[in-house]
Amino acid sequence: MSERRVRLGDVLDLAIEKGVYRGLGLARHEGQVVFVPRGLPGDRVRARVEKVGRGFVRAGAEVLLSPAPERRQPPCPLFERCGGCAYQHLGYEAQLRLKEAVLRESLARAGTGWDGPIEVVASPETGWRSRARFHLQPVAGEWRLGLHEEGTHRVVDLDSCLQVTPGLVGAARGLLAALAAQPAWARRVSEIALAESDDGSARVGALAWEGDPADGSRLAAVASSAPRLTGLGLATAEDRRYVGLHGSPYVETAVGDLRYRAHVLSFFQANRHLVGPLVERVREWSGGEGPVLDLFAGVGLFALALADGASGVIAVEQDARSSEDAEWNRERAGLDNVRIVRTEVAAALSALPAGEPERVVLDPPRTGAGPEVVRAIAERHPRLVVYVSCDPPTLGRDLAAFASAGYVPDRVAVFDMFPDTFHLETVVRLVPR
Ligand SMILES: C[S@@+](CC[C@H](N)C(=O)[O-])C[C@H]1O[C@@H](n2cnc3c(N)ncnc32)[C@H](O)[C@@H]1O
Repeated sequence: MSERRVRLGDVLDLAIEKGVYRGLGLARHEGQVVFVPRGLPGDRVRARVEKVGRGFVRAGAEVLLSPAPERRQPPCPLFERCGGCAYQHLGYEAQLRLKEAVLRESLARAGTGWDGPIEVVASPETGWRSRARFHLQPVAGEWRLGLHEEGTHRVVDLDSCLQVTPGLVGAARGLLAALAAQPAWARRVSEIALAESDDGSARVGALAWEGDPADGSRLAAVASSAPRLTGLGLATAEDRRYVGLHGSPYVETAVGDLRYRAHVLSFFQANRHLVGPLVERVREWSGGEGPVLDLFAGVGLFALALADGASGVIAVEQDARSSEDAEWNRERAGLDNVRIVRTEVAAALSALPAGEPERVVLDPPRTGAGPEVVRAIAERHPRLVVYVSCDPPTLGRDLAAFASAGYVPDRVAVFDMFPDTFHLETVVRLVPR
């Protein structure tokens, strides 16, 4: 018997069975899977089919027929429109359970067979973000600074944001007012990156700049009318060069006994509350003696913390600014057993000879490490690998490659580095089978 497939515009009554990655609720209509953005496990909704792709049906909820037990009033009034959060309407404890379930499913799909415990590390739910990127957009003579509306390029003006530290929100609004006073120049700015020191003593902005940076020097005046910023510069659209307009481009964060300097355009963990516990877990799970390889090292966050007791640490990072920060941080900490190598990870793995049994830490961007890098790591026969991931699907793909190369998980944790969003940070330790 052939069932009728759903069509665009159909209205369906759906029971959300579970949450899946990217903030989607999964339901079934006559056996066919339908994804409902922001649908929560336990919700019953009336939803209109908005997209029918190959193997993918999406329906937008129009009526909440009965709510999931853990639904709540979103604490942010902008939640309905703003694409920055996915779970403000779900109690925080339930968010953690949902993220654990999402990860468990990714691990199962990857064929890891992991049925052991997953440690879940919670974060304070508000004011955790000390790094942010906001879009700048003129709309009908007014300037907006914030995040895109869900699924569009319209900017939601964020006069407050519960994710971001109050100091950084204040700095962003000051900068918006200063830019709005110079509309001809502000039009060349599409995005603003912001970073804050852990003690709030420094805040830096980088304006994504279209065109000749020499023109942008006119914006130096903006810095004096945005007094909460200790540093301001342009990030050229063409080559992501930083051209300073005022003050220093760096912020600082203390983690344990170490201090890290990070350029506003270098990568640094955005959750100021969980960066310390994350480093501690990586250190604990990769502990011991012998050499360490820290791949995708950023400003040396893990490399420096792993130096104690290691015969040597090699930190591999391809970005010029981040590796400069890493070198600076290494020197300030006086760690002679750490070497920062500025190169691409695959190139480093083929150039570095494998020595005594080593430990490998890797923390790739969302795209993951990829099967070649996984193979190259496994061929060094490390005694353990600690994989830090911000994307469950690419983590799953890479864990499948590790399994084929003989490495299986023996510890798993989720760090809720991004409360109220659908993002999650996973730490997995792998050991030879
Ligand atoms: C998710 S960040 C992790 C940084 C650091 N481990 C931390 O926690 O602060 C990923 C880093 O990998 C770097 N990166 C991305 N692709 C790379 C590659 N193919 N080779 C070397 N570094 C890379 C990026 O510049 C970025 O600093």
